[in-house]
Amino acid sequence: MEKETYISKHDIIEILKKDDFSDIVKQADYIRRENVGEEVHLRGICEFSNFCRKDCLYCGLRKSNKKIPRYRMSPEEILRTAVLIDKHGIKTIVLQSGEDIWFTKKILTKLIEDIKTHTDLAVTLSIGERSFDEYKVFKDAGADRYLLRFETSNENLFKKLHPDDDYHERLKCLQWFSDLGYQVGSGCMIGLPGQTIKDIADDILFIKKWNFHMVGAGPYISNDDTPLSGSKNGNFSIVQKFIALVRILCPKVLLPATTAMDILRSDAREIILQSGANVVMPNITPQKYKQNYRLYPDKPCIGEDPITCRYCMENRVKKIGRKIAQDHGHSLISIREK
Ligand code: 5AD
Ligand code: SF4
Ligand code: FES
Repeated sequence: MEKETYISKHDIIEILKKDDFSDIVKQADYIRRENVGEEVHLRGICEFSNFCRKDCLYCGLRKSNKKIPRYRMSPEEILRTAVLIDKHGIKTIVLQSGEDIWFTKKILTKLIEDIKTHTDLAVTLSIGERSFDEYKVFKDAGADRYLLRFETSNENLFKKLHPDDDYHERLKCLQWFSDLGYQVGSGCMIGLPGQTIKDIADDILFIKKWNFHMVGAGPYISNDDTPLSGSKNGNFSIVQKFIALVRILCPKVLLPATTAMDILRSDAREIILQSGANVVMPNITPQKYKQNYRLYPDKPCIGEDPITCRYCMENRVKKIGRKIAQDHGHSLISIREK
């Protein structure tokens, strides 16, 4: 049952400001159940390299941060990780890294082909900005989905935070994914320094307009290893309202309870799963590496090995009366509907 809901920008702002918003959460939870059911999809994130050529102001992987040891998994190690999670009933691998050009078109193409040959996994790429030609070759090699956040729809703020990026280039990449037939995931950070409630409302409307297959949004977490050191973290209630509003406006979207939320409170992912979300992304990076994939401090699950984290996540999902999906969890929005 798809129900198109319209909420004006004015009303979105009012909701984002509200202290008592239990009605919105209830409505989002209902719309989630009616449109995408009780199943929660697991996406295993493999953070395969923390090298990055860029200097985004908020991010601990920025190239000017000399405080983190850099690592790069070998393609063989990544493939082994893929085979392992496939055995444990995770149906999607998200290959995520900083913008690391050591992973050339050739190396990544072979890796995608190998994962597709040796596992039954859906493959999501989350490796930042590349050329149209590379995106096309990766799609032809079998990649199913691409995840690239727009980070903020406020062009001025985008410019301040991204010394190496152009807002319109970012949007062009998102359009290419769609043109190439990827399932497209995008999203933003909530509570960025300099971001207003009006900006956050614009982000929600931007998401509605683009009709993404998946929306990954989470709080901004202040990182002392960046130029934004000492800034405030995003606010949990605003994050919760954001997720609820996205579900209400985009009934069929795949909506994860993202990792960064767990920094704000330990039961964050449970609350978010009951506020409209239907995806969780256990971290399946081998333990020796994941502590160094430090986008922000105090990342959850750092001490757990990938398989422990996967079953821990399943228990958390079951405790709130939901179940883990057994299928690939492809988007219910047709790929070329937009
Ligand atoms: N706080 C929250 N999220 C962050 N990201 C990067 N740095 C931070 C931070 N300090 C997010 C960005 C990026 C994704 C991989 O991680 O949105 O797209
Ligand atoms: Fe690199 Fe992405 Fe971090 Fe920017 S957000 S510094 S591109 S890893
Ligand atoms: Fe990762 Fe519990 S969710 S260890």
